[in-house]
Amino acid sequence: MSIEKTLDLVEDARRRGFAVPAVNVVDELSIRATVEAAESLRSPIILQTSVKTVRTVGAEALFSAYRATARRSSVPVSLHLDHCPDPVVIQRVIDAGWSSVLYDASHLDLDEAVATTDRVVTVAHQAGVAVESEIENIVGVEDGVGSDEATHSYSDEELVDVAVRTRIDLLAPALGTAHGLYTSAPELLIDRARRLSIMLDRPIVLHGGTGLSDAEFREFVQAGVSKINISTALKRAYMESALAHLEDSRKSNQWEPTRLFDQIASGVRDVIARHIVSFGAAETVSSSVPVVAS
Ligand code: 13P
Repeated sequence: MSIEKTLDLVEDARRRGFAVPAVNVVDELSIRATVEAAESLRSPIILQTSVKTVRTVGAEALFSAYRATARRSSVPVSLHLDHCPDPVVIQRVIDAGWSSVLYDASHLDLDEAVATTDRVVTVAHQAGVAVESEIENIVGVEDGVGSDEATHSYSDEELVDVAVRTRIDLLAPALGTAHGLYTSAPELLIDRARRLSIMLDRPIVLHGGTGLSDAEFREFVQAGVSKINISTALKRAYMESALAHLEDSRKSNQWEPTRLFDQIASGVRDVIARHIVSFGAAETVSSSVPVVAS
């Protein structure tokens, strides 16, 4: 079976010079389509859920959809909680079986961010769960979490010092990207990604992947980024595929939900496949991984 730990996947990518796609899934259909895209290109994949998705779908339902798909998968799949400022939700997904969480302390001043991150790390590590940390805010609102204004930013040295002191496993620094669709060209901090990946002995995560070009992704990967988050691109592919199908249904007066599911899955597979290739993750899993039937 290919249920894996996020940190193992990302550490392996870091050593080998590519980035693992971390895709915000919203339901069982998007879980399945995302994993199918990874299987078709022999890439590891991280499925991640927003707090909103956990609240809407439920931690147990999401975990069992993840487990059923990951167990049948021929590539490694892990489950991660995206931006979470609430230790109660973190505890809930740790209990449900997630292998990693992003504790988002970017709304807090430094001293409080350090103290709360340290507490979350202690609890998570006791359960064998890895912690991604964000103390600078990456601009843009993602499923109700975050802000459009940069409220906290620190020097590279401060970020590294806090990461070491709080014992976090992955670092999500501000790298010039933003969540959601860009309304103007972002000023990408590729040199900062390079500096941090040299200064810090743990993986660097790039948020706000939607809207970057292949060349920009490649530059970030060469700079040492080893997990890249994609959310808006999946949501858009999901909804536009559904819309195209429903417009056709109206025209033809044929109403078949399973065809709708197929069209959504196909749209999601295509967009995730494109990102897998851009991140250099295609063909990084050997074909000999045993497939275990559920
Ligand atoms: P996008 O919505 O811009 O793809 O960002 C995803 C992300 O960073 C999730 O944490």
